[in-house]
Amino acid sequence: MKKRMAILTAGGDCPGINAVIRAVTKTAVNDYNMEVVGIEDGYLGLIEGRWRDLTYADVSGILTQGGTILGTSNKANPFKYAVDLGDGKTGFKDVSDETLANFEKIGASVLVAIGGDGTLNISHLLAGKGVPVIGIPKTIDNDVDCTDFTFGFDSAVATAVEGIDKIHTTAQSHHRVMFIEVMGRYVGWLALHAGVAGGGDIILIPEIPYDVDVVCEAAVSRSKKGKKFSIVVVAEGAKARGGDVVVQKVVKDSTDPVRLGGVGSLLAAEVERRTGLEARVTVLGHLQRGGSPTAFDRVLATRFGTEAARQASLGNFGSMVALRGQEIVTVPISDAIGKLKSVPPDHGLMKSALSVGTSFGVKVI
Ligand code: F6P
Repeated sequence: MKKRMAILTAGGDCPGINAVIRAVTKTAVNDYNMEVVGIEDGYLGLIEGRWRDLTYADVSGILTQGGTILGTSNKANPFKYAVDLGDGKTGFKDVSDETLANFEKIGASVLVAIGGDGTLNISHLLAGKGVPVIGIPKTIDNDVDCTDFTFGFDSAVATAVEGIDKIHTTAQSHHRVMFIEVMGRYVGWLALHAGVAGGGDIILIPEIPYDVDVVCEAAVSRSKKGKKFSIVVVAEGAKARGGDVVVQKVVKDSTDPVRLGGVGSLLAAEVERRTGLEARVTVLGHLQRGGSPTAFDRVLATRFGTEAARQASLGNFGSMVALRGQEIVTVPISDAIGKLKSVPPDHGLMKSALSVGTSFGVKVI
């Protein structure tokens, strides 16, 4: 009987997931003569016992497709599974034994889990219960530790930059301060890269709590110098000095329930009130998770997927594939979880941004 490989995609979707599914499946079939089983909707499918065979034909032609053909969920943690207690109340229960039993039913020798921080945490805990896991780091936030880049990030940056470029023209025509709020959760990679690539005049990231006075000064000083508009790229996780993140909503049945959002609107209103400059806000939101992956992400996804399949054949379980410089390496999943990879204040791109006159909303970094 052929060996079987199981694969799931969990957490928020992003461009490049299908490219990874394709790479894992084709490599498993071509190089290792294995069968592949796709678990539906991430860990939810493993909890509920939903999976299907993934054939070569199933993954042919999906390289450029956004989303995930397997579906995903960011609400299904087998160790903390939400249950409805009635009266609008939600409780949590450990269903990891049932999840493990379902994995055994599949008869796979490995589980390839494609996901971000939350998914990798769950994968690590399941590995502790004996599941042979290999992780592939995915997220537009680029916040997974031990890898220079996650796939999905470059595509999200490209989409955000396209948005910023378009907003630039209205900013110029109407002499406005335009706030563009981007995703990224608690780190500023997406805002920093999109801000630099989009020529943002002010970039606000969670790692550097901003001073509203400095943000206002930066916009006013540009105006005085004849640049009557400003582009402010603000990360959804940005916060004022001494303040806290702005929460858009709480998703009760999610294991990571806080959804950030709204800092752009609050700040725009404040800057308009203080400076008299007209301000507008655009929240790019889930646009950043949609569409076809960039060439960089297609390459990274293909390299990650093929290497994960190779590591599966070698039995290097409990590991995650990662990008270090130009090389694909593996690291223990345990090293990659637990802390988010944030932007170091002395990061080279921060220095470059400062050199071209970008403000980070503070006097001194
Ligand atoms: O982690 C990816 C991400 O898009 C974050 O940037 C964002 O904060 C969050 O997911 C949004 O989650 P949801 O799709 O549940 O609203």
